[in-house]
Amino acid sequence: MKIYGEPYQTIWQLDETTIQVIDQRVLPFRFKIFDLKTAKDVHHAIHDMVVRGAPLIGVAASYGMYLAMVHAKNNDNWKEELRNAGNYLKSARPTAVNLAYAVDQQLYKLVGTDDYEQAKNLSLEVANNLRTKEIENCRLIGEHGFPLIEKIARKKQGKPVNILTHCNAGWLACIDYGTATAPIYNAYDKGIKVHVWVDETRPRNQGARLTAWELQQHGVPHTVIPDNTGGLLMQKGMVDMVIVGSDRTSARGDVANKIGTYLKALAAKENNLPFYVALPLSSIDRNIYDGVNEIPIEQRSENEIRYIEGYDEGQIRKVRITPAKSPVANYGFDVTPADYVKALITEKGLCKPDETEIKKLFGDEGK
Ligand code: MRU
Repeated sequence: MKIYGEPYQTIWQLDETTIQVIDQRVLPFRFKIFDLKTAKDVHHAIHDMVVRGAPLIGVAASYGMYLAMVHAKNNDNWKEELRNAGNYLKSARPTAVNLAYAVDQQLYKLVGTDDYEQAKNLSLEVANNLRTKEIENCRLIGEHGFPLIEKIARKKQGKPVNILTHCNAGWLACIDYGTATAPIYNAYDKGIKVHVWVDETRPRNQGARLTAWELQQHGVPHTVIPDNTGGLLMQKGMVDMVIVGSDRTSARGDVANKIGTYLKALAAKENNLPFYVALPLSSIDRNIYDGVNEIPIEQRSENEIRYIEGYDEGQIRKVRITPAKSPVANYGFDVTPADYVKALITEKGLCKPDETEIKKLFGDEGK
């Protein structure tokens, strides 16, 4: 995707020992590149949300494993060092399954190689391949999601299709295209009139800060709304469809995504509006069936609720918005039961959110 007209992706290799990412903590106020040189840097970047969004977290973790190999000692212990690095990286954030998937993929691919140099090269190849695969996954999600928007556009006879999205499941959360945004960019690029309602997504405001910024960079008409506005807009006929992403979807199609997603699904059902979830298969956790009770929900720092961050006279500043001593709770994600989801939009096509259909998606591929 483009930033100020220049093509960018969210993560790339600079040289043998440096991976670079866009620092999402300072967008849209500043555009800054952040260097990752060690697995510790990657852990910090994921935990502190320099990088965020399920597919990007996965790819960053895969490069984290490569960086662990770069710094591992060329002796018999490198396999143990790599396993330790894997456990450490997995502990950075609990909800997005792409993180564990990427770490386990590295361990699985490297297990049969004893030579350190060979394993290090293989590790880079695994990370590069995952990066390429996730880009292609998102491109295909865009292709498969496009007809859903096109169908509504035909009915609306030239009036814009109003799509509501939550958080940032855009290209910043991935490597390119995004998941929820991929069908939107695809439709926009093909000349379909779209307009996106962007939930601001408290407390970190990924919608207001990131989704709005990337849609603006691409020229897609959009409006930022407070998180509580979606229900009203749905009642008034101002929303045609909802598309969100997912950090982890269970084997029967329960969808974990940024806190607040579930409320949008409830409102969509009440108003007979289609609620779609766009995600790559790497965000489906086939080891978990009952997503509502089994998907781990991240609880983040209280300060993310107590303080709000914004731009003031050239400075990024934080101000407190609660009484100093009021207790706060910061649950990062919620789980939307499969019943509320009209379809999953994946790189393999549309899929009903149920166990049998999800199994079919994987075919023999497994994970
Ligand atoms: O806490 P975040 O910003 O990492 O949460 C991200 C989301 O909830 C996204 O919607 C999700 O990862 C889907 S990403 C394409």
